[in-house]
Amino acid sequence: MMEWTDRHYRTFIRLLTRHTLLYTEMITANALVHGDADTLMAFSPIEKPIAIQLGGDNPQDLCQAAHMAQEEGYDEVNLNVGCPSPKVQNGRFGACLMLEPDLVAEIVSQLKARVQIPVTVKHRIGVNDRGDYQDLSAFVSTVAQAGCDRFIIHARIALLKTLSPKENRSVPPLRYDDVYRLKTEYPDLLIDINGGIQNMDEVRYHLEYVDGVMLGRAAYAHPYRLAHADAMIFRDPRPIPSRRQVVESMLPYLQAHTGHPLAVLRHMLGFFRGMPGGRRWRQYITEGIQNKDPFLVLKESLSVLDQDLLDEPCGEYE
Ligand SMILES: Cc1cc2nc3c(=O)[nH]c(=O)nc-3n(C[C@H](O)[C@H](O)[C@H](O)COP(=O)(O)O)c2cc1C
Repeated sequence: MMEWTDRHYRTFIRLLTRHTLLYTEMITANALVHGDADTLMAFSPIEKPIAIQLGGDNPQDLCQAAHMAQEEGYDEVNLNVGCPSPKVQNGRFGACLMLEPDLVAEIVSQLKARVQIPVTVKHRIGVNDRGDYQDLSAFVSTVAQAGCDRFIIHARIALLKTLSPKENRSVPPLRYDDVYRLKTEYPDLLIDINGGIQNMDEVRYHLEYVDGVMLGRAAYAHPYRLAHADAMIFRDPRPIPSRRQVVESMLPYLQAHTGHPLAVLRHMLGFFRGMPGGRRWRQYITEGIQNKDPFLVLKESLSVLDQDLLDEPCGEYE
């Protein structure tokens, strides 16, 4: 997610879950090919498994960007066919590519020929007046023939002319049944579902019908919910980390970080959302770093919280 799932967020999340697949923010192929690729693509091995999400409509640029990502060590290349922002529409990519299934198929086919890592597509169930199940099915069928390894489907249409990007994430109704039906009709394809999914109980429910589940906003607003993923979804028997362990594990990372401390800390500010003292903790950090060493601020911040809750591996607040 743009501005959200940067490398600091991903490092933080990896302290909560080892097995989930993490995605970068969308990076345009153009920016990678013609810009500062080293900075744009940088990630640390701790973030793996990690998929890079590319935006663009030019097969040559996308192939070059995908190849660079593979060399960098990314585990998957994902093509964005779901973003509704006007800027992206002007570039003729993102969600409006759903209106051009043949072009998406051509891109996927060329990507498959260029890289060995999986090539996946994230898209909507439809756009504008092409919002029927039959349109979705035709799109997926065309792109599948090009060799797409997995489809990640946001179960809402996007109305590109009438709704803002934010409205396009909440106004069109969720149609999970269309995604389930797709899996029934194309059992050999890998189909992941996305949109409005809140926690691991809901993830488990969707997994009865599809192959995978992507969490967006809930993973950002309630990061600790991901702490349950390894045990509940991936059957990892290791104990769930406590919130105290997670915060303490971020201390060396924060200490090594040379930029503005909020670049790291902003992703953690909601970590105690809904818990007693959660707001005080947030305030302690944002005010403390104005005039104190951020490492000490984070270290001492835990004292403003209920000590028992800090060590509880799970709990009523999720
Ligand atoms: C701030 C923000 C940035 C986003 N950026 C991207 C993006 O770069 N690529 C993408 O595929 N989806 C992006 N999305 C959409 C989410 O990935 C997801 O499809 C959408 O929010 C619905 O899922 P959710 O209800 O779990 O959040 C973004 C969403 C938000 C809120």
